Amino acid sequence: MLAIAMAMAAALTTACKPPPPSRHDPDAAAVARGRELVRQTGCGACHAFPDIAWPQGRAGPSLVTFDEHGPIAGVLPNTPANLAAFVRDAPVAKPGSPMPAMPLSPREASDVAAYLHGLADD
Ligand code: HEC
Repeated sequence: MLAIAMAMAAALTTACKPPPPSRHDPDAAAVARGRELVRQTGCGACHAFPDIAWPQGRAGPSLVTFDEHGPIAGVLPNTPANLAAFVRDAPVAKPGSPMPAMPLSPREASDVAAYLHGLADD
């Protein structure tokens, strides 16, 4: 009985640990470049971002708290490399994706991924 109570207490303690503030720690210069690229490329035509007042499109999901997001577009593990590949050419990264390929170089796409991974709730 005592063993069970102790096991339960241990399980509860683990379950109550606060999550880390951000799973990613993107480079600040990359985040700044990525934010500018997102503005220039017109991602706001289809998505809402916390620091872009207009436009706040609704054709795609809101990216306001993207850092806390689960799998990208519901299927791809949310890693920097997968995110860069997806924002550059969504239909290749996720066959059948309705998001069009975007005019970004691989380097620009990783800056955009850094920006998105900085969009924490805090
Ligand atoms: C023409 C509209 C359109 C444009 C422009 C667009 N997207 Fe998307 N985006 C979508 C749609 C639709 C989806 C949902 C795709 C899916 O589920 O496969 C999506 C999905 C996403 C996702 C995954 C969201 C999630 O909930 O997992 C990210 C991240 C993303 N877009 C980023 C961008 C970025 C960055 C740009 C600019 C470089 C951009 N998008 C431009 C329409 C667009």
